Amino acid sequence: MSLLYATHARVHLGNIRDNLRAIRAAVGPERKVLVAVKANGYGHGAVEVSRMAEATGTADWLGVATVPEGLQLREAGLRLPILKLGPTFPWEMRAAIEAGLTLAICSREEAEALAAAVAEANRPASVHLKVDTGMGRIGVSPAEAPELARLIVGLPGVVLEGVFTHLPVSDAADVTYTREQILRFRITAGLVQEAAGRRLLVHCANSGAVLGHDSAWLDMVRPGIMVYGFRPDPETPATIPLKPGMSLLTRVSFVKKVARGTSIGYGRTWVAPVDTNVATIPAGYADGFNRLFSNRGRVLIGGRSYPVVGRVCMDQSMVDLGPETDVKVGDEVVLMGPSGELVIPCEEWAARLGTITYEVTCQVNPRVVRIYDPY
Ligand SMILES: Cc1ncc(COP(=O)(O)O)c(C=O)c1O
Repeated sequence: MSLLYATHARVHLGNIRDNLRAIRAAVGPERKVLVAVKANGYGHGAVEVSRMAEATGTADWLGVATVPEGLQLREAGLRLPILKLGPTFPWEMRAAIEAGLTLAICSREEAEALAAAVAEANRPASVHLKVDTGMGRIGVSPAEAPELARLIVGLPGVVLEGVFTHLPVSDAADVTYTREQILRFRITAGLVQEAAGRRLLVHCANSGAVLGHDSAWLDMVRPGIMVYGFRPDPETPATIPLKPGMSLLTRVSFVKKVARGTSIGYGRTWVAPVDTNVATIPAGYADGFNRLFSNRGRVLIGGRSYPVVGRVCMDQSMVDLGPETDVKVGDEVVLMGPSGELVIPCEEWAARLGTITYEVTCQVNPRVVRIYDPY
């Protein structure tokens, strides 16, 4: 299989399982774990990651961003509860209810539209009330949350099951804002439960809070990036051991001798300073090997590091092998991951590209086939 797909992502499902086990061990058996599998499991494969989590009992909930993401999981046979983390348009509600998705409710209008969809579908729906305690994105204000909870419990067929919020700086070294936010949320969650007249599933901890704020763990934690092996920020404390969820690989497709003064690739941005050997690899920006790696990236071949030379093309890139080389067509090339004693971590991509690990793994395009390690 991997020979047919020269450029492929190897997804280390065993590492992802171990990360989930480490999270469970840290937060304790009394808490539930929701694994964020939105955006195709941060690029790792939502269905495969969810199936592994369900089969190994390492997660209790799955988190998605869109209704189609939830439907995809149900169509793949997943039975774990699925929370759609953002608001839902009225016209999406019926499909979501029929798939048994749990919806985040952010406003009175949304709650009322859901009640209408529930009546139409003739099926009840579970919801979690989303409170904006300081993210500034979606959700009801803490002041209005108890009233909205009261309204929801009065709606026939709508079951209020949880209340949650989101933390924008839980990954930062300065803990002041997050500590205040957690306190505000705990007070609000208490008032919401009083208004609802029942105990709810209370949750707010993303990876930053799982790693750095145990007062945020509450009834359930909602890690994403750390499940895939990365801390959300280099500043976040490394309190739980994590293993990378993905390596990116390709193979050498062409090798040539290049005379000093020869230009390489579009724009002629690199000119060989000495007689050398240049390899071509069948990976480019259409695969997620970002064009910003032009003359700045590196790859590993046989445990040695080689620089990208010239511009990264859509489907191919070039690397300088140096004047003496035994690299040949078909040799394995590591774009991200380990090779011999060396490793190119996802964090290195993020730093060189001026982005975060989240975007790096999400940017691995659908053309790059995912090959799953057994777990
Ligand atoms: C509402 C919500 N909860 C949890 C997560 C997981 O966050 P992280 O990947 O930082 O752990 C996200 C992702 O952005 C989210 O939007």
